[in-house]
Amino acid sequence: MTDNKAISRETLESMLKAINMGVLLVDQDYTVLFSNHFMSINSGKPAETLIGHTLFEAFPELPERWVRQKINSVFTLQNFAFTSWQQRPHLFNFCSTRPISGSVKHMYQNCTFFPVQDADGGSLGVGLAISDATDTAARQLDLTRLNELLEEEKSAQARLITRLEEAQAQLLQSEKMAAIGQLAAGVAHEINNPIGFVSSNVNSLRGYLNDLFTLIDAYEKACDGPYRPDHPELASLREKIDYNFLRQDINDLLLESADGLDRVNRIVKDLREFSHVDSSEWQLADLHKGLDSTLNVIWNEVKFKAQVIKYYGDIEPIECMGSQINQVFLNLIINASHAVGTAGEIIISSGREDDGVFIEIADNGHGIPLDIQNRIFEPFFTTKPVGMGSGLGLSLSYNIVVKHHGRLTVESEPDQGSRFRLWLPLRQPQVPAPSTFSVGN
Ligand SMILES: Nc1ncnc2c1ncn2[C@@H]1O[C@H](COP(=O)(O)OP(=O)(O)O)[C@@H](O)[C@H]1O
Ligand SMILES: [Mg+2]
Repeated sequence: MTDNKAISRETLESMLKAINMGVLLVDQDYTVLFSNHFMSINSGKPAETLIGHTLFEAFPELPERWVRQKINSVFTLQNFAFTSWQQRPHLFNFCSTRPISGSVKHMYQNCTFFPVQDADGGSLGVGLAISDATDTAARQLDLTRLNELLEEEKSAQARLITRLEEAQAQLLQSEKMAAIGQLAAGVAHEINNPIGFVSSNVNSLRGYLNDLFTLIDAYEKACDGPYRPDHPELASLREKIDYNFLRQDINDLLLESADGLDRVNRIVKDLREFSHVDSSEWQLADLHKGLDSTLNVIWNEVKFKAQVIKYYGDIEPIECMGSQINQVFLNLIINASHAVGTAGEIIISSGREDDGVFIEIADNGHGIPLDIQNRIFEPFFTTKPVGMGSGLGLSLSYNIVVKHHGRLTVESEPDQGSRFRLWLPLRQPQVPAPSTFSVGN
């Protein structure tokens, strides 16, 4: 302190004048007692024109009521008060000293109000120390703007992802619809044949019944007349309608129709089994049943192209969504039938492995070139002509298998054939399935 005393009042005053922040001293009536260079340079008003005037005459831009309250409270409480650029960015209307970008025209300021005492320790007035916070503010504002941009971009991305997910769901749905369309065509074909002969049989039966009723009418008439053991009219009628043949044929037609209806019934049952219309829930399902019903519903597609050989192993029912697994079987078998040429062979085998079961669908078709083997599970990847393949079958299947915590792999040798291997756990683990949005193998 002794050293400080050595510094003259003039030195201190010139330091205050030169310092790179605004310094003002006002008395209780807000009259400016002192103002330094910083204030003059930034306001463009020499100190003489400021001193002796009230703060609000000198700086009309100040929010008078607020500043009065601030000064009063500092004066009364003899405590510091502070206002930052975030609260009041431009307390004094000063130009920006370092315009960083064209957007910062005004100086951002922090301002401290502090009590000033006279030499006797009495209250002299209130000092204002104004510091230039333009750099900090500009940086902060830039960051805020950047952050807003990032947030906007993030939500735009989120919106895009949602739209993509919706689009993917729609595409998968349309792939399913296409498969259903294909199935419907096959089923229509399969049902057409029995329906055809059953309705032709019904027509024949109607004719036969007419004949029979005519015969019965003749018998009734004969009953009313006098008794004649040998009735020539009845005998000729029996001959005309070929009664003995009619008896036999009615029997045959009924048997054949019953068989036809059975076939239709079986096809409908297979379809129900295939689509599990009764439930799309997790349930214990017999995969062999699923394979058989799938084969039955696409039989029309496969039977002219390939011989199907089954090597079913000993597997127990597994916990799965049956209709979805059938969809996988359908995609794999249809792909196999597309790949085989003449003398096609599709071998379906199954068995237990680790804590699950495997199903293999192998064909002796054209195989998959090595360079595209890791692309076949991608959505839209297809080597089939436009209109023939959507390229969604394997991606859809892969997603279903992942949802079941299973694996779908492929081995293929060009010109030799392909072997798709599906492994599924016996029971579903109690953890959420991995994300199925992006697909790969
Ligand atoms: N069994 C197979 N043999 C040969 N290539 C196959 C076989 N299965 C799939 N592929 C190839 O994988 C591609 C993608 O199959 P997929 O996703 O079912 O779409 P799509 O059948 O509509 O083309 C097919 O275009 C084909 O090139
Ligand atoms: Mg396919």
